[in-house]
Amino acid sequence: MSDHDQVKMTQMNYDVKRPKAENPVKVMDLSLRDGHQSLFATRGRTEDMIPVAELMDQVGFWAVETWGGATFDTMHRFLNEDPWERIRTLKRYFKKTPFSMLLRAQNLVGYRNYADDVANAFMDRACENGMDIFRTFDALNDYRNFQTVVPKIKEYGKHFQGCICYTMTEPRLGGEVYNLDYYVNKAKDLEGMGADSVCVKDMAGLIAPYDAYAIVKALKAAVKVPIHLHSHFTSGMSPMSHLKAIEAGVDIIDTCMTPYAYRTSHAAIEPLIMALLGTNRDTGFDIKLMAQINEIFEKEVMPKYKHLLDDSKVSIIDINVLLHQTPGGMLSNLVNQLRDMDALDKIGEVYKELPRVRKDLGQIPLVTPTSQIVGIQTVNNVLFDTPEERYKMITGQVKDLCYGLYGKTAVPINEEVQKKALKGYDRGEEPITCRPAEVLEPEMEKAKAEIGDLAADMDDLVLYAIYPVTGKKFLQWKYGKEEVPAAVKPITMQQVKKQDELLKKAKAGELVEKKKDAPAKGESLRTFNVFVDNEHFEVGVDEVGGSPILKYAQQIQLSGGLPAAAPAMPAAPAAAPAAPAAAPAAAPAAAEKKADAAPAPAADTSGTPLAAPMPGMIVKYDKKEGDTVSAGETVVILEAMKMENALAAPASGTVKAIKYASGDSVAKGDVLCVIG
Ligand code: CO
Repeated sequence: MSDHDQVKMTQMNYDVKRPKAENPVKVMDLSLRDGHQSLFATRGRTEDMIPVAELMDQVGFWAVETWGGATFDTMHRFLNEDPWERIRTLKRYFKKTPFSMLLRAQNLVGYRNYADDVANAFMDRACENGMDIFRTFDALNDYRNFQTVVPKIKEYGKHFQGCICYTMTEPRLGGEVYNLDYYVNKAKDLEGMGADSVCVKDMAGLIAPYDAYAIVKALKAAVKVPIHLHSHFTSGMSPMSHLKAIEAGVDIIDTCMTPYAYRTSHAAIEPLIMALLGTNRDTGFDIKLMAQINEIFEKEVMPKYKHLLDDSKVSIIDINVLLHQTPGGMLSNLVNQLRDMDALDKIGEVYKELPRVRKDLGQIPLVTPTSQIVGIQTVNNVLFDTPEERYKMITGQVKDLCYGLYGKTAVPINEEVQKKALKGYDRGEEPITCRPAEVLEPEMEKAKAEIGDLAADMDDLVLYAIYPVTGKKFLQWKYGKEEVPAAVKPITMQQVKKQDELLKKAKAGELVEKKKDAPAKGESLRTFNVFVDNEHFEVGVDEVGGSPILKYAQQIQLSGGLPAAAPAMPAAPAAAPAAPAAAPAAAPAAAEKKADAAPAPAADTSGTPLAAPMPGMIVKYDKKEGDTVSAGETVVILEAMKMENALAAPASGTVKAIKYASGDSVAKGDVLCVIG
């Protein structure tokens, strides 16, 4: 037989003689949720899911994950999209494939435990809007946090998938806390609660192939319901782990379409289809249909998002996960936060401090929100602790965790840290041991009174109850009470083309300096990361009239050591300084705000300033101008990296010169008020 015949043969077998597998591996596609959440900060827009939706519906996926996780937050905050509307819109295109969402149990789609009335209202709306499968997890694997949402899932006849967050304290499965028994017992607990399937949720890509085999084998023997493996690619192990899990009899695997796969996302589906072809676990999927879907993603969708991809590294494997077990998303958050604070050179210290903080806080799994809680506290310790005092700046969330508000930790919290965190804590200094939501006051009535008529229906009200500050802002955009800022509007393929041409010119050095005063930054200014060799530039592009002009290009500090350089590329206003579109600023960038605030009428600003120790958003001021405070008393709550930081008065006196309000963004060093 010649090589040519061999090829023809294979082709024929594939097209015609592909027997149906005895036990096909079921597959859930994650492209439309975890895929873009992992690769481009959850910025995927509904309009960019529609072009592939009908084709994806034909594949035969067990389910598509379309909602939950960070999508709810990102959509209303950064995309000006109603999260509820996405379910209803996509349902019109996916006619047969069930929808799955990632539900953070009592945290819903937020970052703290909400009161039972909020959880009930959220679940009603999620079920009624069309969600089918509820992949439910608790960051501490404390299933008491499932007790409110699970009966709702059952009440609506939906699928309850219970998760076990996969984590380790050793290089491999085992040790005193997270050993095989731990996972088996958790799976039994979930089955006992009525789980329709059990998912091992490996959010950091830590599960090694032979550990995946051992766990799946053990779980298949211990429980009757289907076993589902969710593993991120981050460390590079997940395709091997998938295969070993399949050999061990796993029922369902999670993958992404190729353009949304790998890096911190998931293994792609296409290699798995080919790997299993003709075996008794053949997926039965049509590889040509996959190619068709991928082409649409590549040509019509990805160009709009490629500027969000982290292309600062060539390697698609994050070696830090293997070295430090730091989940991908958490690592990029830490790096961003350190960069914002000009402290990127401290990353080594952060790696050293991280396991200590995790141990102090009860050896908890690192997954949203605990990865944030441990991560930010670690950064705070590295930046603010002194040799005499550890845990100098404790975030509000660490205090909540120490109080028991997230649930029971795997091992007890370090008593000393707990005591320090709870000193003066407003709920009390004695930690609770009951189900966290039992100490939470109902929240819906209060939310309703606060937001009033701006919430037109229950969907709006639940959005506001979960995200009061950004939710209110979104509702103001939604109902035309406030101008929608350009930064949250979608970009078109035409804009992408223009930007590409411009960036090509910039890279070729064809943008020359013109000695003209730069016009003011317009409302439609967009910033892009440009990487030329090893240098990173932040380029601001502003569209005036027809063609975009380069507004500024600033060299950014990439890795430790070097301070951020002065602008390395000439600012090159190519057009006359035309007036930018006269839209009122809804949310001016922190830097502009600062500039605006500087020439304010001379108020009495003598005294001790309280400066923002980090960039963030003002949640609220606990004090108003004219109030007297004593040193150490909380004046303002600043949200940074989604953690709330109570900022204390640096001196005793009277509060003056408050320049910001709830919802404002501030830069590091901005004076939030003056105590005089
Ligand atoms: Co995930």
